[in-house]
Amino acid sequence: EDDDERGEEYLFKIVLIGDSAVGKSNLLSRFALDEFDINTKATIGVEFQTQVVEIDGKEVKAQIWDTAGQERFRAVTSAYYRGAVGALIVYDITRRTTFESVKRWLDELDTHCDTAVARMLVGNKCDLDNIREVSTEEGKALAEAEGLFFMETSALDSTNVQISFEIVIREIY
Ligand code: GTP
Ligand code: MG
Repeated sequence: EDDDERGEEYLFKIVLIGDSAVGKSNLLSRFALDEFDINTKATIGVEFQTQVVEIDGKEVKAQIWDTAGQERFRAVTSAYYRGAVGALIVYDITRRTTFESVKRWLDELDTHCDTAVARMLVGNKCDLDNIREVSTEEGKALAEAEGLFFMETSALDSTNVQISFEIVIREIY
């Protein structure tokens, strides 16, 4: 209550995880900068962006962390997850292998974070519906089984990007 009056901000750490090239970095740049890059290089180490989101008239600062999907480029795992209160687990709807990896990413998340972390399953690249390998129903079913929110997104055409991050932030808040 006092915090409201002082206009204090909330800072939430959210992590992006998922296989290489599923579009984590582009989801982040679309959300934070409204930018998309068709030729993104694989992330090396860790990058993050801080974005202010207004939730119920209050300013919430989301610090979104992005690391490499490729093992050899990844940051120190425990440091990456430390203090995270939200996670987006991303796969590429045009590559089934990336969907099959989701369980592994969830295991890693469970190992490093407690279960209170707000989790969203994200099927990215929904603009490529013509070469889809994972149906929306399969994504939904996995999310339900694992107790995750679910959204299909496109960092390319912006579909559901804002809302995906906002649902996670809202859940934390
Ligand atoms: P790592 O950093 O290696 O873990 O990869 P990443 O998950 O960060 O993927 P990144 O954002 O670098 O995107 C990989 C490729 O997919 C790039 O060529 C992007 O332009 C492309 N891409 C990302 N999102 C989308 C999307 O929504 N639609 C389409 N068509 N292409 C996308
Ligand atoms: Mg990346």
